[in-house]
Amino acid sequence: MLPREAFAHLPTKVEGLHRLTKNLNGPELFIKRDDQTGLAFGGNKTRKLEYLMAQALAEGADLVLTTGADQSNHCRQTAAAAARCGLDCTLVLVEPCPETVTGNLFLDKLLGAELIWTEKEKRDQVLNKAFEEAVGRGKKPYLIPYGGSNAVGAYAYFVAMKELLEQLPEEMPDWIVFGSSSGGTQAGLLAGAQNYQVKTKILGISVDESESVLKDRVFRLASEISNLYGDKKSLNPDQILINDNFLGAGYGILNDQDREAIHLFATTEGILLDPVYTGRAGAGLIHLIRSGFFSKNERVLFWHTGGTPALFADKYIRDI
Ligand SMILES: Cc1ncc(COP(=O)(O)O)c(C=O)c1O
Repeated sequence: MLPREAFAHLPTKVEGLHRLTKNLNGPELFIKRDDQTGLAFGGNKTRKLEYLMAQALAEGADLVLTTGADQSNHCRQTAAAAARCGLDCTLVLVEPCPETVTGNLFLDKLLGAELIWTEKEKRDQVLNKAFEEAVGRGKKPYLIPYGGSNAVGAYAYFVAMKELLEQLPEEMPDWIVFGSSSGGTQAGLLAGAQNYQVKTKILGISVDESESVLKDRVFRLASEISNLYGDKKSLNPDQILINDNFLGAGYGILNDQDREAIHLFATTEGILLDPVYTGRAGAGLIHLIRSGFFSKNERVLFWHTGGTPALFADKYIRDI
């Protein structure tokens, strides 16, 4: 058990998606509402940050630093968690800095984070420099990796698998489908499934990486989590299921499938998907259902990982 700052609203609800199931004439669909984890619009990073913040506090940190895209959900939730724990927060964001401050970026500012802008290639360098400068000023900084995806952060999804098992003891789904990027969510779920002997297949829809790159990352991280906190059995790489067929023109570039998913979830279920992660994961889910990937009698759980403030970002609001 890792130390935890318990600020997330857990357990998140599991709900049936009856109207979407009917619309798609598909397998029985469910949703796990990690878009409702409670901290400043929530999302999957809130779970990870419970453990990362606990470690930062245990180490006596007074500042957390992390990095992400201009509309990063991870950065927004880090800024909120820092505020909640009484720590300063510095975010290294990837240029260009937009003219209008909307969506997650607006929230970063509202939550009191200091923002540093840089080119993508220099991100880690700038982050390390900000860390060193903070030390020089007498601060005690704590570095949170991209996506909160180290073993401590991803451990939260090891625990989340137990949460799901407790919610659905007799009726675990056949599949869990969600958006995967830095790999922490997928690695935690896989290590958790192995530890708790859950047979559910865990399918990450990649939002930005090729299958091979993401698979490698998930394998390394899941093995580390299992080694540190789980049953130490080595993970079978064949269990790492990643679909990279929905990348379109790349990260954060909406395509017609993403748009259709966002509209279909909204109009059939009143559920908001985001333009970058869950919109793309939803598009993947819909395509897989229509192409007969799942059999009709299977049960499929869509794990909503949050991101909804990006719906209100200037660059997306016109495009949805
Ligand atoms: C809304 C949302 N969904 C999914 C992901 C991907 O999660 P992970 O980085 O753990 O793969 C992110 C990561 O930023 C996210 O913000």
